[in-house]
Amino acid sequence: MTIVQRVHDAFAGHYGRAPLWIASAPGRLNLIGEHTDYNDGFVLSMAIELRTAIAAAPNDTRKIVLHSEVAAETAVIDLSQPLVPEAPGRWLNHPKGVVAGFVAAGHEPRGFDALVGSSVPIGAGLASSAALEAATATLLEGVCGVELDPVRKALLCQQAAQTYAGMPCGIMDPFICILARRDQVLLLDCRSREAVWLAFEDPDVTVLSINTNVKHRLADGAYALRRRQCETAAQALGVRSLREAGLEMLARADGLDHATRGCARHVITEIARTVQAAQCLRERAWAELGQLLDASQESLQRDYGVSCPELDAVVEIARAIGPRGGVFGCRMNGGGFGGCAMALIATSAAAAITQRIGTEYQRRTGIAATVFASRPADGARLSHPQEQGRRG
Ligand code: GLA
Repeated sequence: MTIVQRVHDAFAGHYGRAPLWIASAPGRLNLIGEHTDYNDGFVLSMAIELRTAIAAAPNDTRKIVLHSEVAAETAVIDLSQPLVPEAPGRWLNHPKGVVAGFVAAGHEPRGFDALVGSSVPIGAGLASSAALEAATATLLEGVCGVELDPVRKALLCQQAAQTYAGMPCGIMDPFICILARRDQVLLLDCRSREAVWLAFEDPDVTVLSINTNVKHRLADGAYALRRRQCETAAQALGVRSLREAGLEMLARADGLDHATRGCARHVITEIARTVQAAQCLRERAWAELGQLLDASQESLQRDYGVSCPELDAVVEIARAIGPRGGVFGCRMNGGGFGGCAMALIATSAAAAITQRIGTEYQRRTGIAATVFASRPADGARLSHPQEQGRRG
C-alpha cells in the first residue's frame, strides 16, 4: 500500500468521511554538492521513493485541524488568530509557516481537517521537513484553488523553514521536493536557480541510502555556525559568495582562522566536484563519479567538520568493499552529524553490499542501520481521490 493510499484510509478512519484532496511530497538524496546551496553553488540531487502525504477535506470552521500519524497528535491552526510560530522544535511550525506564507501572499485557505502520514524518516538528513512543507504547500494550492509558480512555492517553503522552524537552510531541499522528476537528477545552480535535468536510469547502477540511525544534538547550531563561517570567508575574500572564490584566491588571503579557511576550501572544491559529477553522470562514468563522492566525504569530514563517527564507519565499510565489490563511492548526506550516508553501487551487488554494511556497522557501533535503495522519484503531487473514484 502506498503512503497516499494509507493516508486516504487513515483519514477516513479518523474523521469518518472521505478526503477531498491528497497532497504528497518526497524526501531527497543529494548525490553531491553538500553545503553549497547557501553559498550560491551547485547541487546534484534527486527525490527518493519515500514520501510525506496529507489527506484533507473542508470543515465548516476557520480552523485547520492536523492529525499527524508521525507525531501521534492532533494540532490546530486557528486562522482567525495571528499565525505566530510555535515553540522551537515543534513539528507544527513547518505546516504553520507554509500556511502563513499563503496568507501573506493573499491566499487565505478555508478551514479543513487533515491527516499527515510519512515514510520519510525524521532527522535522517533526507529532507523530511522540506517534504512536510512541500506537501502542505501543495495541499494549500488545492484548498485555495491556486497554482503557484514552482520556484515561488519552493522559496515560500524555505521561508517557512527559516522563520517558523528556525532552520537557516538553503534552497536545495524544497526545490527537489517540489520540482523533482522521475528517473532524473537535478543539477541546480543555486545562484541563478537554473535547473538542468540529467537522466539517471541506468538499471545497472543504484543509489543506496544508509541511515546510521543516530542524530547528534550539535546539528542545528553547527549548521548555522558553518553558514556564518562561509559568510566571513566570502567577506574576507571580497566576494559576494564563495561561488565567486577560487583556491588561489583563498591561498593568498590572510587573517582567516583555520576552521574558516577549511570551510571555504570545502565549498570551493565541492562546487567544482559537483560540476564534474554532472559531467560523469552524462557520460555514465560511474567509477569516476564514485571517486568524486569519496573526495566530497573527505572534504566534509576534514575541512567542513560535519561528519561523525557513525557516518565515518559506514563510509569506511563501504570503501573497504570498494569498486571491485560494487561500491563506486560513498559519502554522508544532508547537513551531517548523523542521518544518512549515500552510496553509488552496482545493482547486481546490492543485496551483498546491504548485508555487509548492515552487519559490520552493527558490529562496530552496536546500532542497526536502515538501508534503502531508490530510483529518482517525482516531486510534490496533488490528487482528488473523489473525482478519481467517480471516473474510475
Ligand atoms: C540541509 C539544508 C540544505 C543544505 C544541506 C547541506 O539539508 O536544509 O539546505 O544546506 O543541509 O548540503
